[in-house]
Amino acid sequence: MSRDRRSIAQACAHVLAQAQPRAKLMAARQAARAWRLGQLDHRFDRPMPHAPGRPDEPALLPPNRMPRRGKAGSQRGRIALLHALAHIEFAAIDLAFDMAGRFGQRFPRAFVDDWMKVGADEAMHFALLDRRLRQLGSYYGALPAHDGLWEAAEETAHSAMARLAVVPMVLEARGLDVTPQMVERFRSAGDLASAKIMQRIYHDEIAHVGFGSKWFAWGFDHDRNSDERTNAETAESPANLWVSLINRHFRGTLKPPFNDSARHEAGLTLDFYGAVASGNQTGL
Ligand SMILES: [Fe+2]
Ligand SMILES: [Fe+2]
Repeated sequence: MSRDRRSIAQACAHVLAQAQPRAKLMAARQAARAWRLGQLDHRFDRPMPHAPGRPDEPALLPPNRMPRRGKAGSQRGRIALLHALAHIEFAAIDLAFDMAGRFGQRFPRAFVDDWMKVGADEAMHFALLDRRLRQLGSYYGALPAHDGLWEAAEETAHSAMARLAVVPMVLEARGLDVTPQMVERFRSAGDLASAKIMQRIYHDEIAHVGFGSKWFAWGFDHDRNSDERTNAETAESPANLWVSLINRHFRGTLKPPFNDSARHEAGLTLDFYGAVASGNQTGL
């Protein structure tokens, strides 16, 4: 490893630091490509920034101050929904590169392979949605968006297992529950182009949740078999550990209906979320 080659941590931190959508997209694509081509060292020589760069637009509002989205099938309603989704994908770019750059050292190399792939996917999802917004006469930044998407990252910045539990296995899994209805909603409004984008995103997100489940299971086994018995010492199973991390680090509720088949495909079985779903949970 030569010291003048860029490291994976430098490339990830560079993506996070970019504020403008074009610049973040470009940095994300370059980082994912450079990693794929073996041009980045597997070295964690710099910390991830405390907060990612954000553009001047969209204006960020607390979720309860967001304007209503308008009628579901109307063009205005569809633009508002696409804008909200673009905002989520923009934040997902940062979450993926933060996962790789902040926690990669604790896992085998394949962990970085997976989250760089996720980062490239999220950049593509954002680009598809922004392009669709432009086709409809809008763009990302034209409407307010809700702040708070980075809160989950801050809350779990100290722990890879907490981050995996909350980000891919709760937040991205929630996407699997709600996306099929969105595809239907675009389809019934005759907006097949948007429906197609959402179908593509849905397909990719099953893989993202799957990476979360896979590395969570790996981390559980690894901690149990090593001296780092902090997380796993009291938990009997990955599902057990997941429930305790969710209770500690996730402030929202897990709301049914769940997309059990997509969750199952992603390795997220009912023994994880069944016990903490709203209605069943204690202390959430
Ligand atoms: Fe995505
Ligand atoms: Fe994702």
